[in-house]
Amino acid sequence: MKKRLGMTVMALAAIATLGAGVLNAKDRELIDPIKPAKVTDAALVELGKKLYFDPRLSKSGFISCNSCHNLSMGGTDNIKTSIGHNWTKGPINAPTVLNSSLNVAQFWDGRAADLKEQAGGPIANPGEMASSHTLSVHILQSIPGYVADFKKVFGSDKVDIDKVTKAIAAFEETLVTPNSRFDKWLKGDKKAITEQELAGYNLFKSTGCIACHNGPAVGGNTFQKMGIVEPYKSTTGGDGRSAVTGKDADRFNYKVPTLRNVELTYPYFHDGEAATLKEAVDVMGRLQLGRKFTEDENAKIVAFLHTLTGDQPNFKLPILPASSDITPRPSPFDK
Ligand code: HEC
Ligand code: HEC
Repeated sequence: MKKRLGMTVMALAAIATLGAGVLNAKDRELIDPIKPAKVTDAALVELGKKLYFDPRLSKSGFISCNSCHNLSMGGTDNIKTSIGHNWTKGPINAPTVLNSSLNVAQFWDGRAADLKEQAGGPIANPGEMASSHTLSVHILQSIPGYVADFKKVFGSDKVDIDKVTKAIAAFEETLVTPNSRFDKWLKGDKKAITEQELAGYNLFKSTGCIACHNGPAVGGNTFQKMGIVEPYKSTTGGDGRSAVTGKDADRFNYKVPTLRNVELTYPYFHDGEAATLKEAVDVMGRLQLGRKFTEDENAKIVAFLHTLTGDQPNFKLPILPASSDITPRPSPFDK
């Protein structure tokens, strides 16, 4: 009990200090505009795009990255926890892939260092795509269209998982969402957001949300405890960061989610328990800051959060190369 209280006070002090710093630094905002993606290797990105949409990387031949990170729906699946192979109920909410290149690490507990390391995970995860690296490489190697692509990009027609994840990561790096109304405001277009939205941003700063949700992604750059002032009760999603560090102090620490495009990425929190932004803002106020927002304050903050939606990925749907006669066939139904 004592220990908990001590941590609470420390965490609040950290927020208060940052809060004060924010208020003093009138000339500098703690959120930066999203920069457009710089594509250095267009062929690599194109290959990654195909792989991202290709369900043949799953055992069932039915699930692609886009099944759970739907680029038509803010890079998420909009359900509490994902559905994987054989209709398996996932343990945790799927975060958006949009702007994920800006994250300090990948996954809610940060167990993958970067996008390349992350991309190998779901392919072989029995509850997600349920394939294996060997099988997916074997499948790609049997598809002449892919072999030609790998040859063009890597100078060799040998497919391996390293190349697969490299290409997927390169595509994901292009999934940034610049030009939100808030970014236009940050860059000096004072008419880009309304008075109500600006009032919401001011509350976001003055009450301390910005202590954890800052930087270009408005989050994604630190791990923080969920439930600082009041504990968060959840049976889904594990213990958070302590699973990676082994430290008890990291229990219920999660990567602070990005708030970019947050109006599209419902439901909220690692367990997907908050259905609306109104609810998520209310929980954040009470559990992280010990503050009960009025209806009016809540509506202002929600209005501000809506200004964080940027340009969504916009490209021609990739057409995937056909399987050949020797391509291993999918196994959609397990016993
Ligand atoms: C069955 C649904 C499902 C599929 C298929 C899937 N993912 Fe995910 N993805 C998730 C879930 C759930 C998480 C969060 C897991 C966690 O944090 O423990 C996640 C996390 C991520 C993250 C980390 C984002 C962040 O902010 O931490 C990235 C990036 C990602 N997936 C990309 C991919 C790619 C690339 C593929 C295809 C190779 C893919 N996913 C396939 C459900 C899925
Ligand atoms: C002490 C750090 C901290 C503070 C302060 C904080 N947050 Fe959070 N926020 C988090 C963490 C950590 C999560 C993820 C919690 C989880 O999923 O269990 C989160 C999640 C969210 C989400 C859900 C996003 C998603 O995609 O699931 C929203 C919305 C949000 N915060 C808004 C706010 C607002 C508004 C404030 C101020 C009232 C605020 N936060 C204050 C750390 C913080």
